[in-house]
Amino acid sequence: MFAVHLISFFFSKLQEDPTKKVDRFLYAMRLHDDQLSDISARFQAEMRKGLSAESNAAASVKMLPTHVRSTPDGSEKGQFLALDLGGSRFKVLQVKVREGMGIRRGGVEMVEKTYPIPKELLIGRGTELFDHVSESLKDFLHEKNISLEKKHPLAFTFSFPCEQSTLNQGLLVNWSKNYRARGLQGKDVVQALREAIDRTGGMDVEVLAMVNDTVATMMTCGFDDQYCDVGLIIGTGTNACYMEELRHIDLVEGDEGRMCVNTEWGAFGDDGALNDYITEFDRDVDAASNNPGKQILEKMVSGMYLGELVRLVVLKMAKLGLLFDGHVSDALRTKGKITTAHVAAMEEYKNGLKNTRNILMDLDLTPTSDDCVAVQHVSTIVSFRSSNLVAAGLTAILTRIKQNRNLRTVRITVGVDGTLYKTHPQYPSRLHKVVRRLLPECHVRFALSDCGSSKGAALVTAVAQRLASRRRQVDETLSPFRLSQEQLQLVKTRMRTGLEAGLKSKGPSTIKMLPSFVYRTPDGTERGKYLALDLGGTNFRALLVNFKKGLQQNTRLYHKIYTIPLEIMQGSGEELFDHIAQCVSDFLDYMGMKNAHLPAGFTFSFPCEQTSIDTGTLVSWTKGFKATDCEGHDVVSMLRDAIKRRNEFDLDIVAVVNDTVGTMMSCAYEDPECEIGLIAGTGTNVCYMEDLKNIEKAEQKTEKMEREEGTPEGGEKKLDDGTKREKKVGDAEIPKMCINTEWGGLGDDGSLNDIITPYDIEVDQNSLNPGKQRFEKLTSGMYLGEVVRQVLLDLTRGGLLFKGHVTEALKTPGIFQTKYLSQIESDRLALLQVRSILQQMGLDSTCDDSIIVKEVCGAVSRRAAVLCGAGMAAVVDKIRENRGLDHLNITVGVDGALYKLHPHFAEVLQETARVLAPQCNVTFLPSEEGSGKGAALITAVARQKL
Ligand code: BG6
Ligand code: BG6
Ligand code: GLC
Ligand code: GLC
Repeated sequence: MFAVHLISFFFSKLQEDPTKKVDRFLYAMRLHDDQLSDISARFQAEMRKGLSAESNAAASVKMLPTHVRSTPDGSEKGQFLALDLGGSRFKVLQVKVREGMGIRRGGVEMVEKTYPIPKELLIGRGTELFDHVSESLKDFLHEKNISLEKKHPLAFTFSFPCEQSTLNQGLLVNWSKNYRARGLQGKDVVQALREAIDRTGGMDVEVLAMVNDTVATMMTCGFDDQYCDVGLIIGTGTNACYMEELRHIDLVEGDEGRMCVNTEWGAFGDDGALNDYITEFDRDVDAASNNPGKQILEKMVSGMYLGELVRLVVLKMAKLGLLFDGHVSDALRTKGKITTAHVAAMEEYKNGLKNTRNILMDLDLTPTSDDCVAVQHVSTIVSFRSSNLVAAGLTAILTRIKQNRNLRTVRITVGVDGTLYKTHPQYPSRLHKVVRRLLPECHVRFALSDCGSSKGAALVTAVAQRLASRRRQVDETLSPFRLSQEQLQLVKTRMRTGLEAGLKSKGPSTIKMLPSFVYRTPDGTERGKYLALDLGGTNFRALLVNFKKGLQQNTRLYHKIYTIPLEIMQGSGEELFDHIAQCVSDFLDYMGMKNAHLPAGFTFSFPCEQTSIDTGTLVSWTKGFKATDCEGHDVVSMLRDAIKRRNEFDLDIVAVVNDTVGTMMSCAYEDPECEIGLIAGTGTNVCYMEDLKNIEKAEQKTEKMEREEGTPEGGEKKLDDGTKREKKVGDAEIPKMCINTEWGGLGDDGSLNDIITPYDIEVDQNSLNPGKQRFEKLTSGMYLGEVVRQVLLDLTRGGLLFKGHVTEALKTPGIFQTKYLSQIESDRLALLQVRSILQQMGLDSTCDDSIIVKEVCGAVSRRAAVLCGAGMAAVVDKIRENRGLDHLNITVGVDGALYKLHPHFAEVLQETARVLAPQCNVTFLPSEEGSGKGAALITAVARQKL
């Protein structure tokens, strides 16, 4: 008591200006700019902590991903029910959004009703609270004559912290403000709402999206202002959300685009981060709250606590004799007797002092004029501190956005709602002023949410609804590409039938099964220098290969790549072969070997009827070639003629081989078990070692060959370095020949029609060879991009992509090169790449577009891989059965850009082959040097026989 008198005496000396003693008394609440910048920096650190995967668990500011990826763009539309729970009023609404009305006002119509929530429900059982919510909803439907039969999409504004993994799910982290209902913490509140709606019954409602009030406010304001990237609530509680770069949100996959993060900044300080700014009054408010130790910043800032802070300060000052002559009333001692509305009234312009007097008198006090001035000043300091703290938090968010965008200055709008902001007379102007002072380089606009957060929640729901229906339609479009095991089994069977038929048929067949006159894989004895020419893949290559005595690694290889212009591919045959001769001439010059008269092997990657190793009549062009006067002619003669015409150098063309055969030989040089060659590149094809006895159509030719060239060899042979090639078990003695299957022709008789989609038909019709190579057109690099483009065109026409704009770029055949497909599907930096690749093609995409494009690419390339896997299963099982084995170990030599560059193709192909041919253990060996080396090996073998 003595101390009280002493203090009162001391203060009475200074009492001329009653605000001064308050200033002194509340010194700790008056934050100057340095302190605000310090708080802002601390909050930035908290945000980083909340965003990072490592520190999130321990972070008090939770930084919750909301799964809202874009602010409104005006394309939102529809009619929604909305529930708004967690602010000072619980509301049920109907929101109608008319399309294309964003930016201009008036695009949204709303009908709403506020329902009281009995106090006991706030702290009772969660199910009872939600039952009340859903019964209110039903009442609303009745009252507003909204059909109970129709299905209604519903938007749910739920103003509490929730962990969301999708828009329509959210686990309640903890209650805040005046809610404490039992049994919901850690539970999915959307599910709880659905269950309550089911319990109430009689309504057909689909909860499509749940959003925090900050998010809904940002969306509401974003409807009229495209710069609105921040949502702020200063109401019963306080909180802010903003658009963060996805790459910074560790808890969500993906790194392209943005996502709204609900900061839950009310919890700033829960870990002690604000301890040096906390006063005894804050500690008292906290101790007497629903949730002690939690929501520390919120308790310094928001409407639910502001009046209480003022009351505690006034009470303390009165007790110290600094007010009311030391008199304290019971009312002043009672929690909740000063509200935020009182605070606002006390600070009112003109009437403020009168209001203060009335409020104090209502508390059974008899204030002097000085008391009224002092109490009004207490209010001002408490509410000023609140807006200052909000300014510090906002400054942190805006600074972060500015840094994210790497800008020196940023133009941004903050959407705001909440009773404190809306009803306190000075609050908005103080807040705006301080933010602009702390961030002079930013152009910040504050937009007051004009109609609560439900409009924004409905906009989020409209997007969610559109995405859900888009999802369904995209799934439907892609479902024919997703082949079942049964369908793949059928493809395997059809491939097998096709292989058998091709072997037997003397005339044309869909799978041509062309004899290659290659009787064995290399045995390591091959020696010498050979030229190899390689035509038919992405590029033309000329190579010089030198097989040296001893180890295989001693092989030397030099090569040069030449592109073949489209006009040459599709010009006259003579021009094509002249062009090749010119490339060969250049290569010989480059190697300094113009006069060497080298033996040469010619990889010619098209179907050729062969009667010997050095002749090949082109059956038909495939892929992108269409040169005239070649089909039906011997390509070796055509090349020889072109060389003669050039009259500059001489070549001894010893062998012509398909790229599959070249690849098999090249890989067999490394691995004696390699008896299959596979190409998955521009085109697709397979060759394999078939038992000579099964090749009926080659019988006569083979007999002739045997007389001329000696018996085809097999088995063990001694290498020059003294080592022996391992003998193949069981089948070494059986004469064989490599067959170029030309499996790309499967389906040319309609046998694949059941899996062929309208997009494939379009691609086939627009190709150089309609009706031909149907399997190839489902599986190879030259066509996959086109299939993708056709699907994208269809989705765009259906309004599901690129905002429905079919651009010239999208209409351009060939823009979707296979290399893009590979890049688009790579896992790392995927979305970023997708959008920049699409940009390169002239396609402007949103983040959602790029997700769909990636999915389309995935479906098309996966189908290609499983089809090749099914085909391979047919081939290996045939070889196994040929040899009468229960189990076959075999290696496939592989080449081609699709196989080598695509991120998933190889794996899916292998897995499919494994599942569909369980009795075979198939190893896939990528060819190191292309098929040219194989062609050189065949040349070497052919040479050895001469
Ligand atoms: C309203 C929103 O506009 O603002 C509420 O619709 C939100 O959901 C509220 O919680 C915040 O203000 P208060 O003051 O009602 O808590
Ligand atoms: C190469 C061969 O290794 O693979 C070519 O040498 C072959 O002849 C090619 O055609 C297949 O791949 P792509 O992807 O170029 O068609
Ligand atoms: C509380 C809630 C938060 C909400 C805010 C404003 O802080 O935890 O989710 O946004 O109040 O209503
Ligand atoms: C085409 C050709 C074939 C070649 C394949 C791979 O299918 O017809 O001969 O092997 O493409 O390049």
